[in-house]
Amino acid sequence: MHIQALTSFLALGSTAFAAQLTQVSNYGGNARARPGMWVYVPDQVKSDALVVAIHSCQSSARAYFQNALIPWKRGSDTKGYVTVWPSSTTQCWDVSSRASLMHNGGGDSNAIANMISYAIDKYKIDPAKVFVTGGSSGGMMSNVLAATYPELISAVSLYSGVPAGCFVSASGQTAAWNNTCSGGRSISTAEHWGDVVRSMYPGYNGTRPRMQFWHGSVDGTLSPRNYEETLKQWTNVFGVSTTPTSSKQNTPERNYRTDDFGPNVQGIWAVGVGHSVPSHLGVSEAWFGL
Ligand SMILES: *[C@@H]1O[C@H](CO)[C@@H](O)[C@H](O)[C@H]1NC(C)=O
Ligand SMILES: *[C@@H]1O[C@H](CO)[C@@H](O)[C@H](O)[C@H]1NC(C)=O
Repeated sequence: MHIQALTSFLALGSTAFAAQLTQVSNYGGNARARPGMWVYVPDQVKSDALVVAIHSCQSSARAYFQNALIPWKRGSDTKGYVTVWPSSTTQCWDVSSRASLMHNGGGDSNAIANMISYAIDKYKIDPAKVFVTGGSSGGMMSNVLAATYPELISAVSLYSGVPAGCFVSASGQTAAWNNTCSGGRSISTAEHWGDVVRSMYPGYNGTRPRMQFWHGSVDGTLSPRNYEETLKQWTNVFGVSTTPTSSKQNTPERNYRTDDFGPNVQGIWAVGVGHSVPSHLGVSEAWFGL
């Protein structure tokens, strides 16, 4: 290195090494959808886990990363795990077209699965420690990813979403809004919701991600009814009862209720909370075993 360059390099001090959110321009795979992939590798990697943090509507990887209410950069810095931040090309994530609601269907879910595969390889991630989180549209996508790529994901902690397949577009539109579902009028049996998941990856009989979902009781954007429909969905997939095995009031905080349905399904019902429930870093990390 040229001596002058070296001097100015050293003068920058530790900030020269500060980790930044960085775009991966070619994460590969054959999905037709090409949402952006952004990665944050903390200065001190201390974990071989990966957390995928999926933004809400009218947001982006960068906006979500910089949002003071979204704590996953802090988690990454503290616990030393890598985070991936997908960035949509549409206002909301595509959780409505067949392409996104099918394993290897070529849509947004397929593209995010490709990001996960890329990250496992590139950042030496333990494939058994891949975790997904997101809020609102990102919460919906978290459910869709759990349904379409169960083999890639170990656990999900999602905030204020809807069941996988609830936002389906009958006409096959991409990234469509669905008023029936958002209004809490997509009400069905546990068996039906389970079938919706199973049909997204026909024949799959491997392990499935452990599911944690949060919803506010006065959510005015995605009806609180979606809490119940989501718990029907995942309890059916895991073959357990919709009656909680335990229900703890004021857990993890005052006015929140934690409902367990065996070890793999947990709902957290936030009384008096609207859209969307704030991320609870420590509780989500604990669900992930981080
Ligand atoms: C909205 O989703 C429901 C399932 O939740 C589906 O039955 C309905 O056809 C969808 N609406 C439109 C307009 O596609
Ligand atoms: C499902 O499980 C059975 C029995 O373990 C196995 O033979 C079969 O190949 C599996 N199917 C798929 C699609 O993985």
